[in-house]
Amino acid sequence: MRQHKLLSSSASNNRRPRILYLVCAVALFSLLLFAIQSSFFSGSLISDRNREQISVLSNFQSSVQQCVAKKGLGLTAQIIDHCKLILKYPEGTNSTWYNAQFKHFEPLEYKFDVCESILLWEQYRNMTTILTREYLDVRPDGWVDYAPQRIAQLGAKKCYNKTLCEENLNILLPAKPPFHPRQFRTCAVVGNSGDLLKTEFGEEIDSHDAVFRDNEAPVNEKYAKYVGLKRDFRLVVRGAARNMVPILNGSDDEILIIKSLTHREINAIIKTIPNPVYLFQGIVLRRGAKGTGMKSIELALSMCDIVDIYGFTVDPGYTEWWVSLSGFWFGLDNMDFMTRYFSAPRKGHNPLQGRAYYQLLECLGLIRIHSPMRSMRKQDWSDVPSREMISQAHAAAKQLKLSQSNQAGDLGQFGSCKVWGDVDPKKMGPVSGSPDMSDVRKKSNYNKWEVMPFKSLRNEAQDHYIQMQGVSLYKMDGNRLDDLVCVRHPLKSDV
Ligand SMILES: *[C@@H]1O[C@H](CO)[C@@H](O)[C@H](O)[C@H]1NC(C)=O
Ligand SMILES: *[C@@H]1O[C@H](CO)[C@@H](O)[C@H](O)[C@H]1NC(C)=O
Ligand SMILES: *[C@@H]1O[C@H](CO)[C@@H](O)[C@H](O)[C@H]1NC(C)=O
Ligand SMILES: *[C@@H]1O[C@H](CO)[C@@H](O)[C@H](O)[C@H]1NC(C)=O
Repeated sequence: MRQHKLLSSSASNNRRPRILYLVCAVALFSLLLFAIQSSFFSGSLISDRNREQISVLSNFQSSVQQCVAKKGLGLTAQIIDHCKLILKYPEGTNSTWYNAQFKHFEPLEYKFDVCESILLWEQYRNMTTILTREYLDVRPDGWVDYAPQRIAQLGAKKCYNKTLCEENLNILLPAKPPFHPRQFRTCAVVGNSGDLLKTEFGEEIDSHDAVFRDNEAPVNEKYAKYVGLKRDFRLVVRGAARNMVPILNGSDDEILIIKSLTHREINAIIKTIPNPVYLFQGIVLRRGAKGTGMKSIELALSMCDIVDIYGFTVDPGYTEWWVSLSGFWFGLDNMDFMTRYFSAPRKGHNPLQGRAYYQLLECLGLIRIHSPMRSMRKQDWSDVPSREMISQAHAAAKQLKLSQSNQAGDLGQFGSCKVWGDVDPKKMGPVSGSPDMSDVRKKSNYNKWEVMPFKSLRNEAQDHYIQMQGVSLYKMDGNRLDDLVCVRHPLKSDV
């Protein structure tokens, strides 16, 4: 009996932990179940939200696809997913550009990421693309590390002090942005393709609110019917800056924007001309001169609603054009025109890829392409996705990117601002220039943009300024989307 009791007690002693284990296991199991369920639930919530964005982007993709089919002169778009697509040239397209380095002809298919493209290029519409004093003040080590990179003679060496850099840059440095997003409604960007001679776009080009030209492109009566006469902006590389005086030929208001670096020689020339001269902000330093056309478009987008491009080699059969056109050019005795307006496809350039990319930009609503083959048909922009659709696609791409990188919520229009700075309204010098400014510059019109009263800006530019709460956005380096330098200005009726 005792033994039994002992046994039974030991059995009950054994049973208690077993029940405890069971209870524990059940609790653990339900906890696990709950965890799985709730993670599944929140996961499905996230993917629900993403599903909405993906559907917006997929609709957008098919609009882009239709646009390419209508406007692409044979190009077709094959959709891979809600972001990626492949632009394809028709079977049998003669790829005459041989890449000697990789020993192959350029391919007929190019993959693009529409989400990335729209995030990048829509942002340009809100950017400041002129180097300013406020930018150098706000950017960490702006004067000591960045400024010397924009002055050729200093090379990679640092400015030992700010004064040294100021001496070199004063003449091209406005205190604050001289141009504003949305400043112009329509702009024409005129490239230097020989195709310009096949058409007579002169009048059409001149009808724009602002015209952007490149390097040494001549503007005069002789070529007026091809390229027009209006001159507002000229994006120049430093080599071209040397020949500016004859090229400008007394065109005092034309604004020169130096793409890369300045140096003593350029500064000496600037002192002799009354034209406004600035440095482009937003180049990728030390990467050669590739893609001047893209930079002109970027510059134009930073101040124009509608950007029409002319004189870019965008039609099929670029090599054939050159061969068949050279007779035409020589016949016109246009050696000057030819050297200035025609640049043969450069080494390392991929003409078919470039052409496809321009087509994509058109179908993303960023540019409107004008070319000989397009001029033969009715130009109609109803094939391009609407502004509203583009904004929605942009918002969807942004949210998708945020949720993929696990960033918290929507950080609003300043989410990409990495560095912030304020402008002291009392210290704000209105115009560029230095105390030893030459008389020709003192009397010039170069400050007209820099002291332009807020009220005389286009309504759209004023609205934008107010919506942006007086903040100017600048690129830090290259094409990174998420490291902007942002400068606050007083939100009073004075830009
Ligand atoms: C492609 O172009 C090259 C050079 O112009 C020419 O030699 C070749 O015959 C062309 N091929 C076709 C299929 O047209
Ligand atoms: C650009 O600015 C407008 C305000 O004018 C704003 O609504 C829009 O979200 C901004 N877009 C980007 C890409 O920053
Ligand atoms: C900065 O450099 C300039 C030119 O070399 C020199 O004249 C000036 O004294 C320097 N200023 C300071 C504060 O070191
Ligand atoms: C320079 O401008 C003048 C008149 O403004 C014009 O007659 C002349 O042809 C121009 N020169 C060149 C090289 O374009």
